[in-house]
Amino acid sequence: MNATVVGSQLGDEGKGGVVDLFSEDADVVVRYQGGNNAGHTVVRRGEEYKLRLIPSGVIRGKTGVLGNGCVLDLETLFDEIETLRARGLDPDVRVSARAHIVLPYHRVLDRAEEASKTDGGLEVGTTGNGIGPAYEDKAGRRGIRVGELLDDAVLRDRLEYSVPKKRRLARDVFGIDTGVEFDVDHLFETFRGFGDRLESEEMVVDASSLLAEMDRDGANVLFESAQGTHIDVDHGNYPFVTSSNPTAGGAITGTGVDPSAVADGRIIGVVKAYLSRVGSGPMPTELSEDAASAVRERVGGFGTVTGRPRRIGWLDVPMLRHAARVNGFTGIVLNHVDALGGFEELKVCEAYELDGETLTGIPSTTAEWARCTPEYRTFETWADRDWSEIRNDGYDALPDAARTYVEYVSAELGTPVYAVGIGPGRDETIVRQHPFGSAED
Ligand code: IMO
Ligand code: MG
Repeated sequence: MNATVVGSQLGDEGKGGVVDLFSEDADVVVRYQGGNNAGHTVVRRGEEYKLRLIPSGVIRGKTGVLGNGCVLDLETLFDEIETLRARGLDPDVRVSARAHIVLPYHRVLDRAEEASKTDGGLEVGTTGNGIGPAYEDKAGRRGIRVGELLDDAVLRDRLEYSVPKKRRLARDVFGIDTGVEFDVDHLFETFRGFGDRLESEEMVVDASSLLAEMDRDGANVLFESAQGTHIDVDHGNYPFVTSSNPTAGGAITGTGVDPSAVADGRIIGVVKAYLSRVGSGPMPTELSEDAASAVRERVGGFGTVTGRPRRIGWLDVPMLRHAARVNGFTGIVLNHVDALGGFEELKVCEAYELDGETLTGIPSTTAEWARCTPEYRTFETWADRDWSEIRNDGYDALPDAARTYVEYVSAELGTPVYAVGIGPGRDETIVRQHPFGSAED
């Protein structure tokens, strides 16, 4: 049985912990989109690992694959591998020969474009890792793929075509000085070196063939999404999105598996019990800055990658309905339920009001979404407590009001709850129904 773990909101729903937990029964964990804009946290035996690129399952010793739908910052990749090795792990990471690479000029251009948008209030608030520009080059047929790093002539030709144009773009359009990031010889040496290293460590694979072979042998594949449904380039609140498809369909195109490998498996929607957003764009249930900073104090609401403060809002059910439909969730994991303990009031947006009408889903334009007013339902609150006393099978030990909240979300989406997260550790996720079939209650 395969499973796909998808963020149902705006990223940072706690996907890393979910992947870590369910990868116990997986043989391979595959990232299918995004790059080092992700920040996935795994806590193992009290030790915290923050991963940006490497699939979270490698912490459990599973093979990690980065599919063709990813864009790879190879310096980050090797840094992460080295960091894990220094901590005593032996990460087995394979990268698709078809995955595109992020070049240093992508990072420069990402930041330059954001800076230019700030003047007009259009900035997305990207992570500045060059993700958008790398995907632009992929779609524009001028990107460089992992497999091409192994071929001197092809790599040089590609750089000689692209780099002078990027230099002019940086200088003439964005008015910035260019350095080694735009130097063909420097880039050639650096990336040829990365290619050699990938080759000598036998990391480059045809991921589609590898996964098909594993599937024939009965392997369980876990697909790990980065980001979330509402920052999907197609299904999110464009243009305040990332440049890839975190939604479940991305697992098919971003790995080259038979579509049934994803569609016939479990699709796990990861839901944060409240809403957070790093970066700009609408957020109808957003709290005032004062209220948000009080919440941030308690829940550590700062971005894993950029350290920026997260915007905070109430759970938004129309967003979740959209996510459940677009992804076909077979179940959800409701995370961060502990974080809501001790709130003085607890509200959930059930529907929106727009121009005198009630909407239960989200409108298809971002401008309309920005004008939506939430219609709230109030929930009974529950006290904060020592959550670590409640372990794996402790669903019934959750406060009554917390169970009511969990069951409300499940009923609204018409999907079962696979698990409830009450803390970052592996044993702080209460599994109700295991997506691979074992440990059912
Ligand atoms: P994980 O996998 C939350 C946001 C950025 C910005 C927008 C575009 O940890 O859930 P990009 O650098 O991708 O071009 O930025 O997307 N963003 C995320 N927000 N969690 C993430 O990843 C994110 N990855 C990108 O803040 O608004
Ligand atoms: Mg994150």
